[in-house]
Amino acid sequence: MISLKSSVTTATAAAFNGSDLGFRRKPLLQTQRSLCLPAHAARTERKPTLSMLKPFHLSSVSSFQPLKPKKSLTKCEAYEADRSEPIEPKEVAAAEAKSEAAKKLKIGLYFATWWALNVVFNIYNKKVLNAYPYPWLTSTLSLACGSLMMLISWATGIAETPKTDIEFWKTLFPVAVAHTIGHVAATVSMSKVAVSFTHIIKSGEPAFSVLVSRFLLGETFPVPVYLSLLPIIGGCALAAVTELNFNMIGFMGAMISNLAFVFRNIFSKRGMKGKSVSGMNYYACLSMLSLLILTPFAIAVEGPQMWAAGWQTAMSQIGPQFIWWVVAQSVFYHLYNQVSYMSLDQISPLTFSIGNTMKRISVIVSSIIIFHTPVQPVNALGAAIAILGTFLYSQSKQ
Ligand code: 3PG
Repeated sequence: MISLKSSVTTATAAAFNGSDLGFRRKPLLQTQRSLCLPAHAARTERKPTLSMLKPFHLSSVSSFQPLKPKKSLTKCEAYEADRSEPIEPKEVAAAEAKSEAAKKLKIGLYFATWWALNVVFNIYNKKVLNAYPYPWLTSTLSLACGSLMMLISWATGIAETPKTDIEFWKTLFPVAVAHTIGHVAATVSMSKVAVSFTHIIKSGEPAFSVLVSRFLLGETFPVPVYLSLLPIIGGCALAAVTELNFNMIGFMGAMISNLAFVFRNIFSKRGMKGKSVSGMNYYACLSMLSLLILTPFAIAVEGPQMWAAGWQTAMSQIGPQFIWWVVAQSVFYHLYNQVSYMSLDQISPLTFSIGNTMKRISVIVSSIIIFHTPVQPVNALGAAIAILGTFLYSQSKQ
């Protein structure tokens, strides 16, 4: 076996919410990778040169744990003599298949957790907003809760405290502004219309992504990408005009959220290259900065007097369990976002975008069932066309 060590820096921009402009970043991974020649190849071909005609595997070290050299990896060395048994190609293939299956299982678990947390968040968020229609405060509480949870996790050592510098926070700032706008706009939307309607409109985010990239950044896309926007836009439009409880603020909130999240993706992609903060900690920092940005606006728009009066009304109507609803919407908001960032660490932006669309289907269906949302067939058709368009968009981006 010949092991050539190379240090590969993998920088990954990330995409989010149906956009692949690169929203959430994967941190830079200083990944040690080995260029490994299978043992049998090394044995049968004694020539000292590395011929590209011979089969070899480029694989992560993790697939070859038992073969990891014990000493320095920075020099070429032959250590095959340590092994009594040659490695068969079948063994290598089996090891690779096993590690691939484990990776898929892990991603599947991430996705399932992400969708489940998101469904629970959306249900409690809507329950809270129905009883307490102060979306600026509830948005702030979600961010505050997540920030507190992460501060406690860092203080107690549950999570590793990220090493950040002023540059990190500077580059995070525009991301946080866009995140704040997108978050509060979506919450305002959900305070005015059915959860399902907000998410149908939010499934149109890829259209915003392409249009902003085309007209503001001058990027071009293959024709199928543009064509996939037709069902997205058409489906969203059909769902909007046939929505029984249409409300302009609700509609515009979802549209603004889409636009803000596209900009969040662009700023993330541009600003976060070269930093190594994990997905979980990146989202924690984003929450904290967004909280600082949102709090003064929430006070200005709604304010403590309205909050206090509304709180009393909600408590008298719902009872003490209303507090638990607020806690649940805040905790689940943080958890679903955190898991989504953690999954993005493991997958490509495209896979993430497909996962996010699937998430919206889960939310739309579950919220219609739980809140008994009236849906006309033509309205459901619009939603289905929009979702299908998002899938076609993902495929055409491939
Ligand atoms: C929010 O409050 O930020 C929105 O519910 C976000 O929705 P999304 O994560 O599904 O885009």
